[in-house]
Amino acid sequence: MEATARAIPVGGVPVPGHPAEIRFEHVTYHYPDRERPALDDISLTLSAGTVVALVGTNGSGKSTLVKLLAGLHKAQAGRILWDKVDLAEADRDQVFSHIALLDQSFARWPFTAETNLAIGKPARVPEPEQLAAAAAFSGADAVINALPHGMKTLLALQFRGGSELSGGQWQTIGLSRTRYRDASLIIVDEPTSALDPEAEIACFEKIRRLRSPTTTVVLVTHRMAAVQHADLIYVLHEGLLVEQGTHQELLADKAGRYHRMFQSQADQYISGTDGTVPGQQNHPATADQQGPVDR
Ligand SMILES: Nc1ncnc2c1ncn2[C@@H]1O[C@H](COP(=O)(O)OP(=O)(O)O)[C@@H](O)[C@H]1O
Ligand SMILES: [Mg+2]
Repeated sequence: MEATARAIPVGGVPVPGHPAEIRFEHVTYHYPDRERPALDDISLTLSAGTVVALVGTNGSGKSTLVKLLAGLHKAQAGRILWDKVDLAEADRDQVFSHIALLDQSFARWPFTAETNLAIGKPARVPEPEQLAAAAAFSGADAVINALPHGMKTLLALQFRGGSELSGGQWQTIGLSRTRYRDASLIIVDEPTSALDPEAEIACFEKIRRLRSPTTTVVLVTHRMAAVQHADLIYVLHEGLLVEQGTHQELLADKAGRYHRMFQSQADQYISGTDGTVPGQQNHPATADQQGPVDR
């Protein structure tokens, strides 16, 4: 009996590859050495085929939420459901295989450009056409074409014949890798810190385009101009989910935190540029096109 039990491979409950819905139900997460929970009784829903933004100031709990969503931390209270499967009981390898997590660091592998694109799907033999399409998606094709050996260039300066890329160039590689990988949940946690405002907006546009009917995109940022086109925006503050809605809905609440954050970043940009005091009807499009500077 015991032998049989042990023979069952350590796995867990199979998870749906393309869940229609991922749901947080009263999720709390507390780092052991902290007084306050990083996430406090969070309930929210991510629907397949949507772009969902998580916004909030530094320390509001965005990255912690992402780690729970990706199965990297376990909720201490509440549940995270992939359709009907509780993530706590799910087969972790399966979960990981469906998630692409793109964060600040944009993994830089000391391998060839080709391997850097294909590494998200290690089991697959790289298919040149799909790799090329993925590279073209983000502009990585131009970066790669300029390399001495194209796709076969080693991206590591410390090796003979290797080349090094800039932060922005690595980001195009990271985006293309995500595209190639074809995950059902793409989580992007503040990937734009190395970009200037124009490049940031282009980057977010590409990230939004990673959405498909079966792919949910979760965009995490403290930059308000980047999230206007999300289907749904969740606003976190000190571990609490304080507001949710579309950009228009949230902006309409003049007493709300979203409105205040958006306005203050748009104001920062405008007053920083021409020194004028921004008017009340600071049109959202202004902030989107030009991007607030909040560094
Ligand atoms: N590894 C950690 N250990 C202890 N506290 C942490 C850790 N990571 C984050 N925190 C704390 O949890 C809270 C939320 O952090 P985080 O989720 O990183 O917020 P955000 O991504 O919105 O900036 C903050 O108070 C932060 O200091
Ligand atoms: Mg963070």
